[in-house]
Amino acid sequence: MEGVRSSSLLLGISWVCVGIVKKKISNLVLAKQSKVPLFNALLAHAKRDVVSFHCPGHKNGRSIDKVLKDYTGEDVYKFDVTVFDEVDSLHDPIGPIKKAQELMAQAYNVKHSLFLVNGTSVGNMAMFLAACDSGDSVIVSRNSHKSVMSGVIVSGVWPIWIQPEINQDLDLVFSATYDQIKNALDRYHEAKAVFITSPTYNGVVTELSKIVDLCHKRGKIVLVDEAHGAHLHFNPSLPESAVAAGADLCVQSIHKTLSAISQGSVLHFNSKLVDFNRVKKIVSMLQTTSPNYLTLASLDLARRQAFLHGEENFNKVIKSAEIGRAYINTNIHSMKCCTRQEIQRLGFDLDVTKLTVNVTKTGLSGYEIENILAKEYNIQLDYADLFNLVAIMGEGSNKSDVDAFVDALRSISAKYHGQQKNWILKIPSLATEMVMRPREVFLSNSTKKISFKKAVGHVAAQTLTPYPPGIPVVIPGERITKEICDYLIDMSSKDIRMSGQETECLRTVKVFTN
Ligand SMILES: Cc1ncc(COP(=O)(O)O)c(C=O)c1O
Repeated sequence: MEGVRSSSLLLGISWVCVGIVKKKISNLVLAKQSKVPLFNALLAHAKRDVVSFHCPGHKNGRSIDKVLKDYTGEDVYKFDVTVFDEVDSLHDPIGPIKKAQELMAQAYNVKHSLFLVNGTSVGNMAMFLAACDSGDSVIVSRNSHKSVMSGVIVSGVWPIWIQPEINQDLDLVFSATYDQIKNALDRYHEAKAVFITSPTYNGVVTELSKIVDLCHKRGKIVLVDEAHGAHLHFNPSLPESAVAAGADLCVQSIHKTLSAISQGSVLHFNSKLVDFNRVKKIVSMLQTTSPNYLTLASLDLARRQAFLHGEENFNKVIKSAEIGRAYINTNIHSMKCCTRQEIQRLGFDLDVTKLTVNVTKTGLSGYEIENILAKEYNIQLDYADLFNLVAIMGEGSNKSDVDAFVDALRSISAKYHGQQKNWILKIPSLATEMVMRPREVFLSNSTKKISFKKAVGHVAAQTLTPYPPGIPVVIPGERITKEICDYLIDMSSKDIRMSGQETECLRTVKVFTN
């Protein structure tokens, strides 16, 4: 027996059973990935029942309010500790956090991984600051999360925006395509980096490998917001992940699709073009010195679970999602759940674990159905807009969740009928002129509010984002065009709220005054 083990170790690689799936993984890697050094350090500490003279003030849960403790139990608070040798420091790790981060990097096959305790939001800002100097130009797809705009502002870069394609058959926004990136690179030679969001909220994945190859041939850095794609790496039937595609830096919300606790994200580093020490310094600068150790430990455990069982777990999730999708498309005639084949025909790929259900034919908006699902069926969605419902599945999802969801949709489609609306998903052309860097305008006090009617030609000093499609139509530093003004006046006449508006009703826009 010993002989067999050592010969397979000598060979380095053997066929081993991971969950129910046979994978070619070295026994050494498997043994390492089975470990959870950070969780074990915290557990050992919690079991010692130490007298706490450290932060936080609740002292192992003792003064946590009874109503909360009655529900959660007390033990969990023993994990809520501060920095000391036994549990290591997030900012200068030399013990279990260092080991846990190394295991994360090994699991994703990247050079380094850094734990984040303020979600992908902080990671997006860190990527801009780490890869670019103030004044550099970065090509950015405009269908970005608000933290991307924060990254643009804090880093002081010049954004070169790519207007994403809107598909009016599916009422979906796509990410930047290879051709769009190539055109931008051909036109703006000065661009230092390209920032891409993939997958989108709806699970649409762009042609990342091709984009990364092109960028690297031209010496450009590729930064990817893969908040919704931490699971892709662990199941070969899902679309290719950003780490596999070779992105220089990529951030994933491990808490969104894998089993980490909220705020648990990871920044992966795999670059020859960016200095890792700078990345570390910036991540440290942006993060709290009192990280939640429960979140950190959950990253360690989520990594082990995904590495050992991700393929098997996501096979089940994919199967349930596809059964649900087929049921909706066959049996609920007023609703439509987009399929992978449909998205692939358009040149993208789809993570099928996201169920995007178009409800326009019901005559109800996605918001209305989201509300009905929550109030009458006890089902909470992640997101809805006028056109679509977005049901996000994760490692913890199961078939009965999907059954409940499709049953509820069937019952809603039979029970509720609205008048068919003529809504069209569109935004004005965003080919406007960037006059100043967003950072300069954002930090300036030389601003005033003016009515939309007078705003043409002015430089915007705020961001305004209509949902849907979640693409900012006004950005600090950008010249406001007549088309954008007309669009804003139209939105205001319909009393539609926009993310970023600073007043109750949307009648004015903040502009730069010199
Ligand atoms: C595309 C995208 N990027 C980044 C984020 C922010 O991630 P987090 O909530 O982990 O900060 C989100 C959140 O929904 C997102 O949808």
